[in-house]
Amino acid sequence: MNQKIVITGGAGFIGSHLADACCRLPETPEVLVLDNLRSGRRANLERNQAHPNFRWVEGSICDQEVLDQVCAGADWIFHLAAMISVPESLIRPRECVELNVNGTLNVLEAARKHKVKKVVLSSSAAIYGDDPELPKHEKLRPAPQTPYGITKLDGEYYLEMYRREYGISTVSLRYFNVFGPHQDPTSQYAAAVPIFIKKALAGETIGIFGDGLQTRDFVFVGDVAAANLWVAQNADLHGVFNVATGSTVTILELAETIRELLGSDSQIQHLAPRPGDIRASWSDPGKLFATGFRTKFDLASGLRLTLEAARHP
Ligand SMILES: NC(=O)c1ccc[n+]([C@@H]2O[C@H](COP(=O)([O-])OP(=O)(O)OC[C@H]3O[C@@H](n4cnc5c(N)ncnc54)[C@H](O)[C@@H]3O)[C@@H](O)[C@H]2O)c1
Repeated sequence: MNQKIVITGGAGFIGSHLADACCRLPETPEVLVLDNLRSGRRANLERNQAHPNFRWVEGSICDQEVLDQVCAGADWIFHLAAMISVPESLIRPRECVELNVNGTLNVLEAARKHKVKKVVLSSSAAIYGDDPELPKHEKLRPAPQTPYGITKLDGEYYLEMYRREYGISTVSLRYFNVFGPHQDPTSQYAAAVPIFIKKALAGETIGIFGDGLQTRDFVFVGDVAAANLWVAQNADLHGVFNVATGSTVTILELAETIRELLGSDSQIQHLAPRPGDIRASWSDPGKLFATGFRTKFDLASGLRLTLEAARHP
């Protein structure tokens, strides 16, 4: 029988790239996406419609019954569905807990029931908060500052508990700032890269929160999808891992690089700082790299692919 892979949040930006990667696996596994389109897009699902073993179930991770159905017979679950926005989590903390904590527990319960071999959680650098120690490594004491970060950390603890208690191999991947093709620039909580690209392409002013000297470690979405597959394929790997490149740029440098690559004459305007924004984010990806995994893209090569996709959607 073919292997079965479940991807929660597979209609989203990262989840759809992971679905692409799973559909390219030579063993033609069954790839099942569970998504309620809270922030995902139908167009992301259409990319794999032609794959013989790709299926999409419209439903929520808050619905234990649906989860139990989609996870029956699954070998791996990649759990990406979540409230993904730090600002939104500050506005709607209870909904954030419902999605990111209770939703994750539902996924783990389904995994336990169906003896799933691997559960991989999409966690976040937000769990490090604003600890001044840089670069961030997995042995730092977590200091999340927002409901988003706190709920991601809760999820990590539950994954570890289900590993200890029930023997499910679990991995939490702490992504830093992910970018790449098909990242939505239109949502109210859109990330910097797609917004800057959209503005630069239109020649409109690029707004930057605060002085723009906040630093970020940008990791290409193809590398994030590859990291998910890597930890699933290596059955013995468990625990938490940073997923990042290990180098940083400031938001101002990012805006300037995008402007240059596009030959855009967009102006840059500084806006009021955003609540909950972390000042410095820079990862030590050494723990994941020590397992043999390497990111393949730096900011420039990833941006070229992203710009290409934005020019020819
Ligand atoms: N993009 C980043 O830079 C980044 C950084 C760190 C962590 N992450 C994490 O990676 C994961 C994917 O993020 P993304 O950037 O692709 O965001 P995204 O919004 O594109 O994807 C999230 C997906 O989850 C779905 N979803 C939300 N609530 C759901 C529910 N109740 N039931 C089923 N599906 C639901 C959405 O519809 C969407 O398709 C998230 O867990 C996010 O917290 C992302």
